[in-house]
Amino acid sequence: MRKIVLLVLVMNTLLTHAQEINIIPKPVSVTVGVGSFTINANTKIVAKGTECLKSAHFLADYLRSVYGVSVGIVESGSNQSGNTINLSEARKDETHTRYSLTVSGKNVQIKGDNGAGVFYGIQSIIQLLPVDKSSPLFIPQVNILDSARFAYRGMMLDVSRHFFPISFVKQFIDFIALYKMNTFHWHLTDDQGWRIEIKKYPKLTEIGSHRNGTIIGRYPGKGNDGQTEGGFYTQDQIREIVKYAAARYITVVPEIEMPGHSSAAIAAYPQLSCFPEESTKHPEKTAWNGPTEGKQVQQAWGVFEDVYAPTEYTFHFLQDVMDEVMQLFPSKYIHVGGDECPKESWKRSAFCQQLIKDKGLKDEHGLQSYFIQRIEKYLNSKGRRIIGWDEILEGGLAPNATVMSWRGEEGGIEAAKQKHQVIMTPGAWVYFDHTQTKHEDSVTIGGYTTVQKVYGYEPVPKLLPEENAHYVLGAQANLWTEYISNAAKVEYMLFPRMSALSEVLWSAKSQRNWDDFEKRLLVQFKRYELWNFNYSKAYFDPINNPDSAK
Ligand code: ACM
Repeated sequence: MRKIVLLVLVMNTLLTHAQEINIIPKPVSVTVGVGSFTINANTKIVAKGTECLKSAHFLADYLRSVYGVSVGIVESGSNQSGNTINLSEARKDETHTRYSLTVSGKNVQIKGDNGAGVFYGIQSIIQLLPVDKSSPLFIPQVNILDSARFAYRGMMLDVSRHFFPISFVKQFIDFIALYKMNTFHWHLTDDQGWRIEIKKYPKLTEIGSHRNGTIIGRYPGKGNDGQTEGGFYTQDQIREIVKYAAARYITVVPEIEMPGHSSAAIAAYPQLSCFPEESTKHPEKTAWNGPTEGKQVQQAWGVFEDVYAPTEYTFHFLQDVMDEVMQLFPSKYIHVGGDECPKESWKRSAFCQQLIKDKGLKDEHGLQSYFIQRIEKYLNSKGRRIIGWDEILEGGLAPNATVMSWRGEEGGIEAAKQKHQVIMTPGAWVYFDHTQTKHEDSVTIGGYTTVQKVYGYEPVPKLLPEENAHYVLGAQANLWTEYISNAAKVEYMLFPRMSALSEVLWSAKSQRNWDDFEKRLLVQFKRYELWNFNYSKAYFDPINNPDSAK
């Protein structure tokens, strides 16, 4: 008798354990059954239509590369009964992209509103699979109904401060896909490097994509490494990335910075500056390598006074650049930067002062607004919309602009009150270049943003009147790479914070519960190991998490 009781207890423990659902982001509704479905070499994925076929291939590739299991793919029509994973879509254009996932002992069904919904169902299957590579591929019987809370779920990667090869950009896109996010914001130009090939202006990459050195350590640095740093993406590579992202239902939003953060472009084409004949200045406390005469790509981090002159030459240049950008990126939105543009050059430029008078502008902030509005008008005339950092509010918002609120929530609140669309990226919560623990073991830019803090972020600000809440499209984490020069560190800075953000963006507000997330996060750590992610262990640091010391 005692043996039977023991056996029942063991079975129960095994069963309960097997039926735990640990998906991140948490689905809207989960009903757990008893028993499981097993994927094996005889399993077939049955896909109805081209969109479903894409997801079928994605899952088959995943099973092969992670578990070494090959499954077949069958196009619809053939009547498959048992041991199948059936994918179908209703072809509805739904922004919240619902899907249902039903796992029985015999088969698996994913029904999506559209192709993206099916793809999100696949991501849920991936997180129902074992975290152990060598385990049989059990999927618990379950009924999931799920949809996204926010339409915009983004991640930004800065490839200007440090260049990353396209193989890693693809991996970054894979991270976005695993967490049911849908936008990759690609920060392609800045003071320290211009990374996109523009055929009409070859010097942008011949000159602007390399710098002669980089400060060592935290700003102002302990010298200069004297190494050439650089690289750029050819237009073919960019097309390849856009296609790779689209196959994962991810839109790539390119950012071409203006009017500030433009030293690399000015190094290539000095006429873009108000003072083409002046040599580039670098911060006094920083060490420089190589020639100091003429215009140079910056080697230290910060904000620089030499910015685009608001001349016809510059506007023609930017329109030409945007023509090529629009050919490469089908995204409705083009990000035009707009942040951190010092006004000193414009103040001492006779041309700029005359332009302010001629256009009846109030001051240099008015001039920045004029600059952004001209570019907006051009992009709008081509059917595109602009996104800009929250400084574009200063001096008057361009009529159709979407504001990315980074200096806290205020910019987002103000823009939404003015009935403009908003994407929230406030530094304190979603700047993933911040330190994750007080014991950080490598140099970071500063700040202190734990996984708990990210999880507690609410994209709709409390102070925003209810009737304006719908202007908040969603949120995004930003990964600025001044102190991130390799892929392993990118992963370290992303995980586990990106998992927390995915839940903020996807799951219903009422479902957000740290204790529940924490249980699933502990399993997610094992999944990171399955995926070979170099994640931060800061969660286990007693300073962040006094309970973990027990
Ligand atoms: C920013 O962090 N300068 C947008």
